Amino acid sequence: MGENGSVFLPEASSSFASEVDALFNFVLAVSTVFFIAVVGTMIYFVIRYRRRSHSFVPAPGKDSRLLELVSIVFPTILVLILFTWGFQVFITLSTAPPDSYEIRVRGKQWFWEFEYPNGVVTVNEMYVPLNKPVRLKMSAEDVLHSFFVPEFRVKHDVIPNRYTTVWFEATKAGEYRIYCTEYCGTQHSAMLGMVHAVPEAEFNTWLQNQDQDIPLLDLGERIFSQYACNACHAIDGTRKIGPQLNGLAGITRTLDDGSTVVADDSYIRESILDPNAKVVDGFAPGLMPAALGASLTPRQLDGLLEYIKSLE
Ligand code: CUA
Repeated sequence: MGENGSVFLPEASSSFASEVDALFNFVLAVSTVFFIAVVGTMIYFVIRYRRRSHSFVPAPGKDSRLLELVSIVFPTILVLILFTWGFQVFITLSTAPPDSYEIRVRGKQWFWEFEYPNGVVTVNEMYVPLNKPVRLKMSAEDVLHSFFVPEFRVKHDVIPNRYTTVWFEATKAGEYRIYCTEYCGTQHSAMLGMVHAVPEAEFNTWLQNQDQDIPLLDLGERIFSQYACNACHAIDGTRKIGPQLNGLAGITRTLDDGSTVVADDSYIRESILDPNAKVVDGFAPGLMPAALGASLTPRQLDGLLEYIKSLE
């Protein structure tokens, strides 16, 4: 029963899959030994001590302290080993590392919806970065579902009005089937998804390209709230530590060196990417990190620009 799967178990493709398998194999081995010992002894006794004649009366059996002791102590030790080992694996499976990447999972009749931290939503297709812990925060919109990826040894109920979580770290690139393992209606068996475990760089590219699907303005609004721009920039005319952004498009602004600038696309773009290039009169320079703008993709930048221009 190796890493590549067998008759007993599918391929082991997550960081803790081999731990789960080791425990499973131990339970299987113990059960097999006991099955053979109990059933074998039973068959032997049935034949050996069968009633040979109607008048035969067996002699009463003798008590054996030793036998009694062994049959109490040995199973107790075995069960304690199973408990301790099982509990350790349970803890591993139920505690996601603190730096886990979080994806929201929603089970619906009859598909899976995945939402990424940047707001990208996909249906039935989940991309995850390789060798990074991923935590799934799951809930159901309607009835009970259950999220199951055999290769990751991950399975958990997905419940309405409640959050459940699982985590895993994919260790092998590939595509893995997601099953729903809780009967949830007529299309239950068709409630299938796919996990694409890809190298981190490929994952990031994929995630950024997902933005292509939504209108620029919506993308901009999303970026604005994701980056918490409103923490420093008011959009209702009040004053915060950064200049207000509503009604900005096309106005003339006075800068801290006394010159003026018309707030056109280029000015707004420059102020996102290089906040200190032109500092508005009355505001302190150096407060806005240039890294914020640098982390945006060109399309995200365009979206943010459109959004800021739309603020009245
Ligand atoms: Cu969802 Cu079965």
